[in-house]
Amino acid sequence: MVVEEFFAQTRVFVVTGKGGVGKTTLSGAMANLAARHGLSCLVVQMAAPGASRPPETAHLSRLFGQDGVLDYEELVLKPLDGPEPAGQVRARALRADTALVEYLHAHGMKRLSRRLATSGALDVVATAVPGMPDILVLGKLKQMERAAAAGQPGAPDVIVLDAPAAGHAVRFLQSPHGLLGAATGGPVRAQAEEVVAMLSDPTRCQVVLVTTPEETPVSETVETAQALEDKAGAALCTVVVNGRMPHLDLPADLCAEVLVGAAGRRGARLSEPGANELVAAAALRRARQRSEAAQVERLAAELPLPQLELPFCFSTELGPAQLALLTDALESGLASWSPVRL
Ligand SMILES: Nc1ncnc2c1ncn2[C@@H]1O[C@H](COP(=O)(O)OP(=O)(O)OP(=O)(O)O)[C@@H](O)[C@H]1O
Ligand SMILES: [Mg+2]
Repeated sequence: MVVEEFFAQTRVFVVTGKGGVGKTTLSGAMANLAARHGLSCLVVQMAAPGASRPPETAHLSRLFGQDGVLDYEELVLKPLDGPEPAGQVRARALRADTALVEYLHAHGMKRLSRRLATSGALDVVATAVPGMPDILVLGKLKQMERAAAAGQPGAPDVIVLDAPAAGHAVRFLQSPHGLLGAATGGPVRAQAEEVVAMLSDPTRCQVVLVTTPEETPVSETVETAQALEDKAGAALCTVVVNGRMPHLDLPADLCAEVLVGAAGRRGARLSEPGANELVAAAALRRARQRSEAAQVERLAAELPLPQLELPFCFSTELGPAQLALLTDALESGLASWSPVRL
């Protein structure tokens, strides 16, 4: 599939997965890839439901070699290595309290929003009712999606929601369904209806699941996928296995004498303890490769979704060089990707 087709499948990609598996990293790589192909992409980052502090936001900027904490204002991130004319990457944070202010402004209640803000009650109002923060955030997302669908000036082609970790994401995406049952009328019900309509329409919104090739994250991904489909009615796009070790062909009979001899023939000196450590490292890497392969196979067997893979980057902090590598991996994976379930 060509990249443009992948991004044309839907308008909002909701990226979710267990904590720390690479949701933000993948969101950055998707945005960079979209921009590489001339599309403009908005990454929307949200905090866990109920949290009033901004989400962890520096990682995304650092991937693009920039500083900057995401907030309500959009931050323009410079897309890397794109062909001309490259698209654009923008990013912003989304929180319940700011979404409430925007809602009140859009509905002619500026004075009320100012009073709430100055009295310090904004946060309380935005988070008091269970499900309310979620509907505020999802309502804002739906508004952005509508603007993109209408091709409004400045609206992005693609929206990537860097969503909360899996357990929260299920509750978050389920919440409008709950509110539909609870609210019989009024603006909350109307908002919930519109959000449910977006979530259940695959041409408007699809979920991208991220996992690492390890036992617990894979098991949780399978459970989350089922919950998202059954409870939130969301369409699943693909699963991305992040951080897979690049494959090395390491013979099982590798031993210290062979390594010392091979080093000697190349004019290098390798001590026997050094060679023993290399043999141990090779055995560890082989075991890791075997276990990752087994988890990827299990994932395919238990979750009938197309897969993509991102390699593990040997770097303490991910920056532009790693983002370029991950974007390349995504691009080459998409060449043989098809929306057909495995
Ligand atoms: N492919 C990779 N290779 C190496 N390190 C990676 C890779 N992907 C992510 N990381 C590292 O793993 C850590 C977690 O990544 P990231 O912040 O993208 O995960 P997350 O799912 O967004 O986490 P959270 O749940 O906290 O939001 C980061 O330190 C990141 O640099
Ligand atoms: Mg994150």
